[in-house]
Amino acid sequence: MTILITGGAGFIGSNFVHHWCNNYPNDRVIVLDALTYAGNRQNIAPLESLENFRFVQGNIGDRSLIDSLLRAENVDTVAHFAAESHVDRSILGPDAFIQTNVVGTFTLLDSFRHYWTEKGSPENYRFLHVSTDEVYGSLGPDDPAFTETTPYAPNSPYSASKAASDHLARAYFHTYKVPTIITNCSNNYGPYHFPEKLIPLMCINILLGKPLPVYGDGQNIRDWLFVLDHCKALDIVIHKGQPGETYNVGGNNEVKNIDLVTLLCELMDELAPDLPVKPSKQLITFVKDRPGHDRRYAIDATKIKTELGWTPEVTVEEGLRKTIQWFLNNREWWQPLLSQEYQDYYQKVYGVSV
Ligand code: NAD
Ligand code: TYD
Repeated sequence: MTILITGGAGFIGSNFVHHWCNNYPNDRVIVLDALTYAGNRQNIAPLESLENFRFVQGNIGDRSLIDSLLRAENVDTVAHFAAESHVDRSILGPDAFIQTNVVGTFTLLDSFRHYWTEKGSPENYRFLHVSTDEVYGSLGPDDPAFTETTPYAPNSPYSASKAASDHLARAYFHTYKVPTIITNCSNNYGPYHFPEKLIPLMCINILLGKPLPVYGDGQNIRDWLFVLDHCKALDIVIHKGQPGETYNVGGNNEVKNIDLVTLLCELMDELAPDLPVKPSKQLITFVKDRPGHDRRYAIDATKIKTELGWTPEVTVEEGLRKTIQWFLNNREWWQPLLSQEYQDYYQKVYGVSV
């Protein structure tokens, strides 16, 4: 297989690149990443010396680059992760979300369509579009979990842009028979997670003895999935999934934000030596809610389980322990990410500096 992985220097993408290189050492892996603020070449640095590996810095919206890369590398599989991915940033500035998530995905899909047609429309080619459960909108406390047929109802500029890209991936199968597959996954966490997201932000702030900002009443619910479980699901979808299908991926781990942050504090107190403030729970601070904040997400992953045989393996507590240990062991990874750009972002969202 020759697989083009877009966004492979980001959080989930880089975990997936490691997973693929470990499990399929004979496959050729091309990573295309624009290295935005969220992209970090360090995440995949140990792989760059592999013979079958190539890193290309570039934008998914650059049509001539994509056209030539697909042909030069004879790509048969695309795993498309590249995106603007943070809801709070989409509220501050939606433009980049439309450019990358909508226009960029369109450019990639359309380039792949022409290339695939020119090759004689091979049946074994795949275009995996990696998406989110946020496209389905917000659930009430007693609503059933999202299935693949739940109507789309995105509420943030981020989820709206991902919904638009999902529709394009779907349309390219129905109209042109391009072998696209869509996955909609719940909240991931684990190694290489950029500090702006809930779990790494809380880990880092506990280590720094800074306030832990919980939005609103802290009763919002997310379904949490350890990132390597997500990577395994995507692997199975690439190998066994049906073109034109959508698969929901979730951890079956619904947790209220306040309970998750409290558990994180308890695990940090146990695992981290010399915390500046202990018990770290004292740092929890309720702050102004995120505008349009979705109340609850929950995934029904019956389809991927029954049709493809995937189930999550890591419990929340186990996954959080691994994640905390990773952040404790990799200070030199996250410390430089608390840059001036990050401080400016933090100031805009939280009104204070980290
Ligand atoms: P991330 O923000 O950590 O990484 C995104 C990567 O894409 C970065 O390396 C960035 O440099 C790159 N990128 C951004 N714009 C680009 C462009 N125009 N051209 C090329 N590269 C570009 O995101 P993530 O959390 O790893 O998410 C990856 C994918 O998974 C996204 O599509 C996201 O919507 C989806 N997803 C994320 C989650 C989650 O919990 N993080 C859950 C479900 C689905
Ligand atoms: P986040 O990691 O941004 O993921 P998403 O919004 O895509 O689900 O946030 C997860 C949950 O945590 C969400 O309900 C918002 C909440 N949250 C806070 O309470 N405080 C924070 O500082 C952040 C970043 C998120």
